[in-house]
Amino acid sequence: MGGVDLRGTVAVVTGAGGGLGGGIARAFAACGAAVVVHYHTSAESAASVVTDIIASGGRALAAQCDLTDPEGGQGLVARAIDEFGRVDTVVANAGIAPVAELATMSVSQWREVVDTNLIATFATVQAAAAAMSAGGGTILLIGSIEGTHPAWAHAHYCASKAAVVHFARTAALEYGRYGIRVNSVSPGLIWRDGLDLDWPEGVRRYRRVVPLGRLGRPADVGNACVFLASSMAEWITGVNLVVDGGVSVHPIW
Ligand SMILES: NC(=O)c1ccc[n+]([C@@H]2O[C@H](COP(=O)([O-])OP(=O)(O)OC[C@H]3O[C@@H](n4cnc5c(N)ncnc54)[C@H](OP(=O)(O)O)[C@@H]3O)[C@@H](O)[C@H]2O)c1
Repeated sequence: MGGVDLRGTVAVVTGAGGGLGGGIARAFAACGAAVVVHYHTSAESAASVVTDIIASGGRALAAQCDLTDPEGGQGLVARAIDEFGRVDTVVANAGIAPVAELATMSVSQWREVVDTNLIATFATVQAAAAAMSAGGGTILLIGSIEGTHPAWAHAHYCASKAAVVHFARTAALEYGRYGIRVNSVSPGLIWRDGLDLDWPEGVRRYRRVVPLGRLGRPADVGNACVFLASSMAEWITGVNLVVDGGVSVHPIW
């Protein structure tokens, strides 16, 4: 059991077959929450997250959908309620981060990022809030430090993450009266196997400047999400929690 007691609660984590999402799902399960492990195409890794949670005495199930389908988020929340009887937290983590330089970027490349990172997030939030409007709950959106710090060949991604962070604030404004808190978590560079081979220069640069001396781990993001979902954060809404080992405080001149 983690340091926070989430027993009796239910969390839905989107994109939990992926690196960060799996870490977020595991962090909620470690604190006793039942977890809906959403995936789109990564059935195998979602199943392994579920297997690990159940093997540790927790409750979890895998649920598949394409979140760019406007009904995807609704189906996911309905599944949580059908199987576990309630939904307390929804973490909108699913997203894509393709690389494309602006000079040759097409409208369809831009649109694909907006469809996944922004429109699907909007639909997920709306579905979550509808399910929580009677009893309250917490919604977490996964942003990125690239929402505030530009990154090369990521204009569409940076713009979408800036929008996600501000969307969390507007959703907090409108949903507070229902007892629904909405916050964003903006990670820095999170380690995954093979990252140093795929992007050696990025990993080197990050390690060189990050005050806390290492890349992030999925659990770092998961723990931040658990905190914001817990009663310890019951008077916190509309904030963006940066989880980046301090890289954003590096002097820019
Ligand atoms: N990794 C980092 O360093 C980092 C840093 C800052 C922010 N982030 C953010 O953290 C989140 C997770 O990133 P990650 O690095 O863990 O990437 P990832 O492993 O690629 O995970 C992203 C997940 O999003 C899901 N997804 C994509 N399109 C979808 C769709 N149309 N419908 C439903 N699900 C969809 C994918 O599901 P399937 O695999 O099942 O298809 C995938 O597992 C993203 O929002 C990302 O922008 C990551």
